[in-house]
Parts: sequence; C-alpha cells; structure tokens
Amino acid sequence: MLTNHRCEPSSVAILGRSRAGRALFAALIQAGSPVSLIPARRTLRSSSLPRPLVSAEVLVLALPDRFLSMAAAEIARRIPGARASVLHLSGALDHTVLLPFVPTGRSVASCHPIQTLRGETDAGSLFSGVTFGIEGQPPARRRAAALVRRLGGVSATVAPGTKALYHLAASLASNATVALAGLAEDLLRQTGFSQGSARRALAPLMRRSLENALEAGPRRALTGPVARGDLATLKRHRDALSAADPALVPLLDALVHLQRRLLEKGP
Ligand SMILES: NC(=O)c1ccc[n+]([C@@H]2O[C@H](COP(=O)([O-])OP(=O)(O)OC[C@H]3O[C@@H](n4cnc5c(N)ncnc54)[C@H](OP(=O)(O)O)[C@@H]3O)[C@@H](O)[C@H]2O)c1
Repeated sequence: MLTNHRCEPSSVAILGRSRAGRALFAALIQAGSPVSLIPARRTLRSSSLPRPLVSAEVLVLALPDRFLSMAAAEIARRIPGARASVLHLSGALDHTVLLPFVPTGRSVASCHPIQTLRGETDAGSLFSGVTFGIEGQPPARRRAAALVRRLGGVSATVAPGTKALYHLAASLASNATVALAGLAEDLLRQTGFSQGSARRALAPLMRRSLENALEAGPRRALTGPVARGDLATLKRHRDALSAADPALVPLLDALVHLQRRLLEKGP
C-alpha cells in the first residue's frame, strides 16, 4: 500500500492499482492531497481491511467495471459504519452498483474522468481541464466535485439513467475516432502508401479537422463531398469501398447519413 505522508490523516483511499487508480493517485499526490493507493486483489482476499480504506472520507473503487459489483458487496459487508462517501470511476455504470455501501452510512456516486488513462505516474496536469461526469447521491456528488476541483478538473452532472448514453458519447469521440483513423490508414495503404507515409499524410488533416470541429463546432467544420452535395463523388467512394471492403459499405452509408443530418441541423 502506498500512502502520501505529506498530509494526514488520509482522507482519500483509492482501491485498485488500475491505470485509472494509479493516475488518480499520482495526480492527488501532486495536488498535495492526502491519499492512499490500496491493492484490490490482496485486500479482497484478506480477512481484514486496511485502516486508510476504513477511515477514508472518500473511498474510490478504481476497478474494471466487471469487478465493481463484487468488490462493493464484499467490502460493504465488512466495513464499519461511517459518514463518508464511496465513488467509482466507470463511465458506463452508474452509482447503483455501490448501493451496498448505503446501509454503512456512506453515500455513493460515480465520478468518471472523460480522459484516456494509462497509469501515468507523472500525472500533474493530466486532469487539468478534464471534465468529470458525476451522478449519484447528493453528499457523494459534493465530495466528488471537491475532488475534481483539487485536480483542476471540471464537474458536470450526468442526468439519472443516462450513463450508458453518456459513455457512448465519450467512446465515439475517442475509440470510434481512433478506429476511423485505422480504416483511413488501411485504405491509403491499398493505394500504395507505406504505413509511415499514410500516418504522415493523415496527421495534419485529422488534427485540423478535429481542431475545427472542437473550435467552430461540427456543423461549420464539415467539408467534403457531403457538404458540397457532390453525389457523383459519393457514388465513386461507395463503389470503391464495395470493391475494397464490401462489409464496410453500411458503415459508409451511416457516416454519410450522419453528415447530412449535421448539415440539416443548421449552424
Ligand atoms: N483506463 C482508462 O482510460 C479509464 C478512463 C476513465 C475511467 N476509467 C475507469 O476506471 C476504472 C478502472 O479501469 P482501468 O482501465 O484503469 O482498469 P485496469 O487498469 O484494467 O485495472 C487493472 C486492475 O484491476 C484490479 N483487478 C484485476 N483483477 C481483479 C479481480 N479479480 N478482482 C478485483 N480487482 C481486480 C487490479 O488491481 P490490483 O493490482 O490493485 O489488485 C489490477 O491492477 C473502470 O471503472 C474504468 O471504467 C478508466
């Protein structure tokens, strides 16, 4: 177990040396916050719970989503009562997975950083300006928001019952964009580009398109054949993809549909 001894007593305990848990731990240390990082598997197997976990003002379960329900039930069964809060970092799950803690006197919430994390230990500015989607019971939401402020982040309330949609939005912005970058690279390689030259070619285009979308808004950033109403080029694209990778034609149709909807929405 790692503890930041610069301040005491420890008021935040992070259970799980996951990528998210380690990054949060490093960022809180750099923010000068009292925080402990507690191994999850060992703790769940052990007959006693470590003191920082029991006494934490804020306990953060930083575990992969599939372990949260089991870990919440197991720890809540053994932890003594306290007026404290328990949070998790999942984007897709809401606070209800932590409800076993409520009979212990703790309030529960989810607090998800909209950021991709790899266990950074040099996490000083990692959360600076990052939005955290928060939902759950009011006392735990307030504590989550205070934690986010300490990290230099921004709190946003996620409406009850919408976590899956919220997470889909983040996942489209991150994972789907990466998948489309991969597809564009593959298609360029079929036209004679090496992997390196394909990435070099796509990088300025992708960066500028993304910057334009984020600064001016997606509607104003949209260029290309859909924005121009160039049906002949759209047909050429569709025919080329039908020949190169026919399974992806429905994806292309959906992307064209999406661009048309964006144009119809107006500025
Ligand atoms: N990674 C990201 O980019 C990111 C971004 C935002 C939010 N999140 C959220 O953060 C949470 C953690 O995600 P992650 O990607 O950081 O996870 P991860 O790195 O895959 O987590 C690995 C850790 O899970 C624990 N673990 C493994 N097997 C276990 C078991 N059988 N029982 C209990 N714990 C076990 C271990 O902790 P110990 O070594 O301590 O035992 C292990 O180090 C998730 O809710 C995720 O949605 C992640």
